Amino acid sequence: MASVPSLEDLGDVAGRRVLVRTDFNVPMSGPDDARVVTDDFRIRAALPTIDYLTSRGAKVVCASHLGRPKGKPEAKYSMGPVREILASLAPGVELMENLRFNPGEEANDPAFVDQLVAGIDLYVNDAFGAAHRAHASIVGPPQRLRSAAGRLLHKEVEVLGNLRDNPKRPFLAVLGGSKVSDKLGVIEALSSRVDGFLIGGGMCFTFLAAQGYPVGDSLCERDQIDNCKKLLAGSVPIHLPEDIVGLGPDGSVATFGVRLPDGAKGLDIGPGSAAAFTDLIMDARSVFWNGPMGMFEDERFARGTRTIADAVADTKAYTVVGGGDSAAALAQFGREDDVDHVSTGGGASLEFLELGDLPGLVALRGAPRV
Ligand code: 3PG
Repeated sequence: MASVPSLEDLGDVAGRRVLVRTDFNVPMSGPDDARVVTDDFRIRAALPTIDYLTSRGAKVVCASHLGRPKGKPEAKYSMGPVREILASLAPGVELMENLRFNPGEEANDPAFVDQLVAGIDLYVNDAFGAAHRAHASIVGPPQRLRSAAGRLLHKEVEVLGNLRDNPKRPFLAVLGGSKVSDKLGVIEALSSRVDGFLIGGGMCFTFLAAQGYPVGDSLCERDQIDNCKKLLAGSVPIHLPEDIVGLGPDGSVATFGVRLPDGAKGLDIGPGSAAAFTDLIMDARSVFWNGPMGMFEDERFARGTRTIADAVADTKAYTVVGGGDSAAALAQFGREDDVDHVSTGGGASLEFLELGDLPGLVALRGAPRV
């Protein structure tokens, strides 16, 4: 990422007010007016950048979005609970209210950019997870202020850039999650880079339907079947489950082959598939994993995702896990320290692997250098 300025390029930051765009879009639970942060991974991930700046005498003002409020304040998306955690980790650092409470954020309104940079001397983007959004706080300030990429943004782009351009082979992409339509672009783009795909999660049923199997009441995007057929006809192997765990027509948990009876619903890959996927992951030299293999929040359907998490943690391959759900699964199974890199970005990591660049990076490259 040579052409994107780094923190050192900001020169002397002592006494300067620095706006740091972070991605504090963290999982929360609890009632709307008493929300609790359930995972502070993204907050801790911003600390190296914050520490760099504060230890050199800068005054840091952080700004982030949280959830998807529609351009107006909503109690459940208030930054209050995040602010409390940040205050304990980085005393004295300010945190603005949720950027998406203002419609100007998503509209990339210049008037909102004016508000954001008022009284600010320098801008740092450390929000890798939001760097694929051409929103005001991501692309606006670099047009006005001397700017830099923070430590987290740098690290993510370095790791994912190497995986994209220079992977050790065989390179496998393990994809899950519910929607094929969200991932078609990345499957197409990665087809020229990976040596195989392992596909589980809700999205596998659209592929199984494309192969002519009945999928019962499982998730299936009928309008994507032709696209799946095209991908299956490509030269890169797409490994699909050979068995499925789910609910039978009578509502009891059952294991099926790839033909699901009417009224049955697939909710996890089966043990045979998990074993076959594990063998492939063990033999790989690079693995990128995005998306759970099933509804792992429900213990009855967690086994497939747990087996894949263990395989990704145990393989000698270089392993990168991207996306909130896969990262949450790794954490749930206590394996988050056993992979090479857990990306803070879901959509951003997929878009970077697909396109090799992001609007936030383009903006930083164009920022004034003096
Ligand atoms: C994420 O969680 O992937 C990022 O914070 C981006 O959030 P968004 O998809 O609502 O833009």
